Formats: sequence, structure tokens, C-alpha cells
Amino acid sequence: MSETGQRGEPRELRVKPIRNGTVIDHIAGGQALNVLKILGISGTTDATVSVVMNVESGKLGKKDIVKVEDRELLEEEVNRIALIAPAATINIIRDYEVIEKRCVDLPEEIVGVVRCQNPSCISNTSEPIRSRMLVKAKNPVLLRCLYCEQPLTDKIADYLI
Ligand code: CTP
Repeated sequence: MSETGQRGEPRELRVKPIRNGTVIDHIAGGQALNVLKILGISGTTDATVSVVMNVESGKLGKKDIVKVEDRELLEEEVNRIALIAPAATINIIRDYEVIEKRCVDLPEEIVGVVRCQNPSCISNTSEPIRSRMLVKAKNPVLLRCLYCEQPLTDKIADYLI
């Protein structure tokens, strides 16, 4: 890593490298808090979590970064991130080294993450039924409720459970 930026200014590290854990990089600008929601990380977490929002990125214009220390996130956990951040990369860090780098890829079905937008859907009643969304297309994302077949494509972040 060079010590100066493009115009020769000192290159500033906003968040220091982590020793162990997971770095989710290349999140579309402004989506970091939704990524935390999908991962089930809330204000009561014990984990050390760093969030960087709206930093310059060559590929994305602006990007967000989330670093979760001392936790290696599983593929099933992180793949759901593709719902709102399809360009995200997952970096597993051990002893300061990136030992694994992968892209996110939506599974065929998403359970308990996104609410159906049909208020009369059985998954929105007091029945103990978890939402089940089939992934019909990945780019752009098109979900379809397994129970009532209601599609969901826009504003998926608004329907995160
Ligand atoms: N990172 C970190 N702690 C480390 C190593 C890496 O927080 N000990 C972060 C980096 O800051 C970066 C991400 O993990 O946000 C990926 O690191 P690296 O592969 O070294 O960076 P790039 O080559 O820029 O990644 P890419 O090619 O995916 O853009």
C-alpha cells in the first residue's frame, strides 16, 4: 500500500487493519447499516464492529465498509448481503492477512430476512410462519413470496425484518 494518495496527500487510514475477523468491502454507499441488519448485528452486540460510510471507491463511486473483529462470517450468513449490496466482497482475516476473499451470491431461497409486502400474506399474520422468498432473478434482484407469490423488487431494504 503506498503512503500517498493520487494527488500526493498523505494516505490516511480511516480504520486500522484488523488482526482477525471479517471485512465486508465494496458495499454500495449508504448500505452499511442494512448490511449489519442482515447480519443480525444490532446495538447490543458484544462484537467489535467498525463501519465506514461513503468513502471514495474507483468502482462504486462511494462505498461502505464493515469490519467485524474476531468473527469469521459463514458463507450462508454473508450471501444474503447480495440483496442490497451485490458487489460486496468478503475478506476473512487471520493474523492481519487476507486468507480468503469471495464475492456474495444470492441463494435460491431467503428465509426470515425480508418481509412480504402483501399485508394479507400468511407470513404477515400472527401465525408463527417465517417469511420465505424465492430468488427469481439476481440482477436486478427479483424475489417472489413462496406463500402468496407477491413479487418484491424495489426498495428491498425497506422490507428487511
Ligand atoms: N483489511 C483489514 N485488515 C487487515 C487486512 C485487510 O481491515 N488486516 C481490509 C482492507 O482495508 C480492505 C479489505 O480488508 O478494505 C481487503 O483487503 P485487501 O485485499 O488487502 O485490499 P484490496 O487489495 O484493496 O482489496 P480488493 O482487491 O478487494 O479491492
